[in-house]
Amino acid sequence: MFNPENVPGWPAELVDGPVLLRPYRRSDAAAWSEVRRANREWLAPWESSVPGGWHELNSPAAFRWVHRDQRRSARAGEGLPFAVCLREGGRERLVGHLNVGNIVRRAFCSGYVGYWVDSRVAGRGVMPTALALAVDHAFDVAGLHRVEVNIRPENRPSRRVVEKLGFREEAYHVRYMHIDGAWRDHIGYAMTSEEAAAEGGLLARWRRIRTTAG
Ligand SMILES: CC(C)(COP(=O)(O)OP(=O)(O)OC[C@H]1O[C@@H](n2cnc3c(N)ncnc32)[C@H](O)[C@@H]1OP(=O)(O)O)[C@@H](O)C(=O)NCCC(=O)NCCS
Repeated sequence: MFNPENVPGWPAELVDGPVLLRPYRRSDAAAWSEVRRANREWLAPWESSVPGGWHELNSPAAFRWVHRDQRRSARAGEGLPFAVCLREGGRERLVGHLNVGNIVRRAFCSGYVGYWVDSRVAGRGVMPTALALAVDHAFDVAGLHRVEVNIRPENRPSRRVVEKLGFREEAYHVRYMHIDGAWRDHIGYAMTSEEAAAEGGLLARWRRIRTTAG
């Protein structure tokens, strides 16, 4: 049973090769702002519409509010908000974000995953690795039974991420979310802990795929 005094699976650091998922720190403000501001064209078509300018909403000062909100939801057991980092050449670089959010416990034990990576590291398998790590953690440690990812039909790269990890396409949500200035349809993908266990975990599945492809 979920006990808010002792949030299962949080805080956590998850690692596979150079990919590291860890809780955000207050000192991430400058790096977060740089990567968000540098990726406006890359991210805006896929993110919820929020009133305000991109530059201001993604300033180091704005990070303080984002960070506070994420910490609150993680401590309440309602989110697993990870900074996605790459460790290369002895340096750790913040290159993206992954959150298992809107977690509802009790008889549901389910959450929604959102993510993005810096366009400068796209196509290197960073997000499938991050998603596999996060979903395995959500099922094995954080007590979830199901995760969902909702993706615009036009977003081929994101659909490829969930398809490679074996998520099940299970719904078509009409005019589902306000993204980039309009109500957009989304395809619903889901995964249960039983489905992940049948693969030996998602990271194991992803490693098999990478080995075969390489
Ligand atoms: C979706 C996203 C997170 C994928 O992350 P990633 O780490 O690049 O994932 P992968 O390396 O597995 O690449 C996924 C697909 O992107 C495409 N891709 C590859 N290199 C690419 C590049 N340089 N630029 C754009 N897309 C590329 C390919 O279709 C690839 O699929 P494939 O493995 O079948 O070739 C990333 O594209 C992104 O952040 N996009 C903008 C934000 C977004 O869409 N978030 C998700 C909202 S649901």
